[in-house]
Amino acid sequence: MKFKIAPQAPRGMHDLLKDDAELFLGIFNEILKHSYLYGFEYIRTPIVEKEEIFTASLGAFTDVIEKEMFYIDKKEKGEKYVLRPEGTAAIARAYLQNGMHSWPQPVKLFYFGPMFRYERPQAGRYREHYQWGLEIIGTEDPIYDAKIIQTFDRFLRKFKLKDFIFRINSIGCLNDRNKYKKYLKKYYKKYLKNICEDCKRRYVNNPLRLLDCKNEKDQEIKKSAPVIVDYLCKQCEEHFKKTLEYLEELEIQYELDPHLVRGFDYYSKTVFEIYFVEKTTAIGGGGRYDYLIKFLGGKQIPGVGGAIGIERLMDIFKIHQIKLNVYKKPLVFIAYATEKAKKYAYYVYDLLLKNNINVVENFAKNSLTSQLEYADKIGVKYSIIIGHYEMGSKSVILKNMLDKIQETIPLANLVEELKSRLK
Ligand code: HAM
Repeated sequence: MKFKIAPQAPRGMHDLLKDDAELFLGIFNEILKHSYLYGFEYIRTPIVEKEEIFTASLGAFTDVIEKEMFYIDKKEKGEKYVLRPEGTAAIARAYLQNGMHSWPQPVKLFYFGPMFRYERPQAGRYREHYQWGLEIIGTEDPIYDAKIIQTFDRFLRKFKLKDFIFRINSIGCLNDRNKYKKYLKKYYKKYLKNICEDCKRRYVNNPLRLLDCKNEKDQEIKKSAPVIVDYLCKQCEEHFKKTLEYLEELEIQYELDPHLVRGFDYYSKTVFEIYFVEKTTAIGGGGRYDYLIKFLGGKQIPGVGGAIGIERLMDIFKIHQIKLNVYKKPLVFIAYATEKAKKYAYYVYDLLLKNNINVVENFAKNSLTSQLEYADKIGVKYSIIIGHYEMGSKSVILKNMLDKIQETIPLANLVEELKSRLK
């Protein structure tokens, strides 16, 4: 088969190379340590889920369900499969399926993996993105709303990042929301002719999403809309107050955002997003979801969580020039001088790796000169050179690449010798 143009990755999806790839792995490494330290255990769920997991929980009239799902061609007994657009609904499914209600509660889980949304690709908005997610299931206690925020806050501060803020709101329980929606619709009714086409649909299908409108023209109208915190019941008000008190106790920077509603219908009570001053899009977000497990057919088991987008986090790390080194530069190169010595060189190379010595080769080059040129280019301290003679005498030549001094070392002493020289 011949390609008309060079083959390309799918639109909105990217290869990750070199420094970016290293930063990604470095972040992953830090996330593992941090999540375990803060008491979360790792969970992995499939990248593919049944469509109904998301349609039953995110809300029929949300952007993700209406237009951003990635469908898979294969069906099983009429069930449609999708690439997961987010992690929370899948974790709730796993909680039910694995009987996690019988584990000590609350269950605290973290995950790291790709999510897929059929979006119009633009800066910071991709069709495949990675998320680090945290979920705490089995408690209503507001201290856990604060704990999710605390865990993200302390992670970012570990890298001396300061110019970010948590925007926070409470959208109450279902009763509060239903009551509020009536007042919101009453307010917007006067402006029905003036609002954008999307908002006209939202007015009918999902009025809370009116507050999510980014259309310039609609902002003035939104500004004076009633705010949901004025409609919270006693219990939800108390929950929100306590959450904020915990954040204050920990000196976490937050601001109230009375119009913050988030993009999925599974949220209740606390919702939050994380914003950096240099960006207009959130790097993370989350909230409480006390009805989600019920939406999926379980009992009403409360939960709270959040997720940070890794691509957006990487942008912030780059702006602040934060480097995380997972790659250790090799300090030793191994070269062979003759074709006959190649096998012995390969044996020595393997021996060094087995002894944890970071040695590099370029066995694809067959002249010694070009192998040593390569060694110079990558800047190693020592080269090991193996020829016919060394093979016979079970020794190697050790060349110092700085002063170019060469010495012969018995193979039996090589590991120890290198370890002491590289200290
Ligand atoms: P979300 O706000 O949709 O929440 O996504 C979380 C984060 O993922 C966003 O703040 C953003 O950084 C990143 N993100 C989302 N979509 C894209 C995209 N198209 N391209 C690049 N980055 C993106 C959730 O997904 C919830 N499941 C979070 C949660 C966990 N709530 C409770 N628990």
